[in-house]
Amino acid sequence: MKSFRNRLLVTILGWLGMLLAGLFTVIGQLFPMYAESGGQTRVWLILGLLFAAAMLFSAIIGHRIIKIHSLPIENVTETALELVKGNYRARAYEYSTGGTVQLSSTINVLARNLQEITATRETEQERLKTLIENMGSALIMIDRQGTVSLVNKTFLDEFSLSDQVTENKFYKEIDIPPVVEKFIDHVFMTETSARDQVSFDERLSTKHLDLYGAPVIGKHERWLGIVIVAHDISALKRLEQVRKDFVANVSHELKTPVTSIKGFTETLLDGAYKDTPSLLAFLEIIQKESNRLEMLIKDLLDLSRVEKADFQVEAKPTDMKKVIERAEELVRPRLEEKSIRLETELASVIVQGDANRLIQVMTNLLVNAITYSASETTIRVDLSQQQSEAVVHVKDQGIGIEASEIDRLFERFYRVDRARSRNSGGTGLGLSIVKHLLEAHQGRVEVESAVGVGTTFTIYLPLAK
Ligand SMILES: Nc1ncnc2c1ncn2[C@@H]1O[C@H](COP(=O)(O)OP(=O)(O)O)[C@@H](O)[C@H]1O
Ligand SMILES: [Mg+2]
Repeated sequence: MKSFRNRLLVTILGWLGMLLAGLFTVIGQLFPMYAESGGQTRVWLILGLLFAAAMLFSAIIGHRIIKIHSLPIENVTETALELVKGNYRARAYEYSTGGTVQLSSTINVLARNLQEITATRETEQERLKTLIENMGSALIMIDRQGTVSLVNKTFLDEFSLSDQVTENKFYKEIDIPPVVEKFIDHVFMTETSARDQVSFDERLSTKHLDLYGAPVIGKHERWLGIVIVAHDISALKRLEQVRKDFVANVSHELKTPVTSIKGFTETLLDGAYKDTPSLLAFLEIIQKESNRLEMLIKDLLDLSRVEKADFQVEAKPTDMKKVIERAEELVRPRLEEKSIRLETELASVIVQGDANRLIQVMTNLLVNAITYSASETTIRVDLSQQQSEAVVHVKDQGIGIEASEIDRLFERFYRVDRARSRNSGGTGLGLSIVKHLLEAHQGRVEVESAVGVGTTFTIYLPLAK
């Protein structure tokens, strides 16, 4: 259709050309006639005018043809240049005239394809970046020259490099612990993958890292550099240490009474049984140590039960006043033994809880108050209701606890003064059990203390529903 129109245009032009040529011939033949009649000047004028008209006409036609044919080419060139610059949104006009329409549409298809490819690549890059940033492990990539080509935020945070420019730096120039650098050296030199665990001191604590390094292999088995992934396992190591300490503590706590029982039994068997006073004294010690063993095993079993993730108490409406009174009865002999007065001010408060477990909590706190107080002192127990909670204070006038020790008080086997506390007959597990039991009740415990003045343990419990 369009090529037909062009051809028509050319044909019309041809016709016009022929017409003009004819006109010139006719005028040429008329010339002598005019010359005779003395109109030579007028003939030249007409000829000039006709010539000018022909020129103007062909100029206009020429301009139109050039416009139709060259504009689209210019436009396509411009579009192509934009594409070269990376502006894949550029499009050429798809003119309905001229033979360049196919060129324009092809360029547009090309541009659209490029735009799609770029968009896909950008999405993929974005995904990869998000993955690298949020993988939870520190990552660093080093190229063949030893230059850092990529680090993620975790890496910068892990080694406190956040405010340093690390990319494009030689890896030995960045400020990382020597053990980590040594590991990177190893992977870089050997070009093989490796795994290791390292630890180094950081500020006041020791940091443990699990390191994995591997060579980056590109096309045609070409070695492009290395990648190192570091995972912070300090928390795991701490847990492992707690477990090891626990086993060591349990063994130690069990060993002491067993050694003592064994020693005294052997002495008795060796002949000491013949002497009645020694016999009685030794049997008393054996009994005391056996009780301690029994208590320790009971506490350990209790603790392992309440520490289980799925441990639940049978919570039902419970009169907290009765709980405290029951605990008081249980510790009465100890109070009398040390002549310690117990003052109470108990409101009637019904909590949501397991009576036996709550008696256990209260006895533990009372026994501690008695144990760590001098004779002839006073212990105060208050029970009240504050907003939606039951609050119990157990206040003694005992030896008190150093502020720095308070955070560790609820750890298993933790004792402020090891020797003294052990002689006091406790297991070091009481407060751990208290804490877990209260947590199982959706309650909590707080401590306030002053050395030489006294200690107040406060427990909070939810009210009955
Ligand atoms: N009322 C208190 N006054 C002073 N120190 C206390 C008191 N209660 C607990 N402690 C300290 O907390 C440590 C841990 O208590 P606990 O877990 O009950 O173990 P223990 O078996 O030694 O009593 C005790 O060894 C003691 O040092
Ligand atoms: Mg105790």
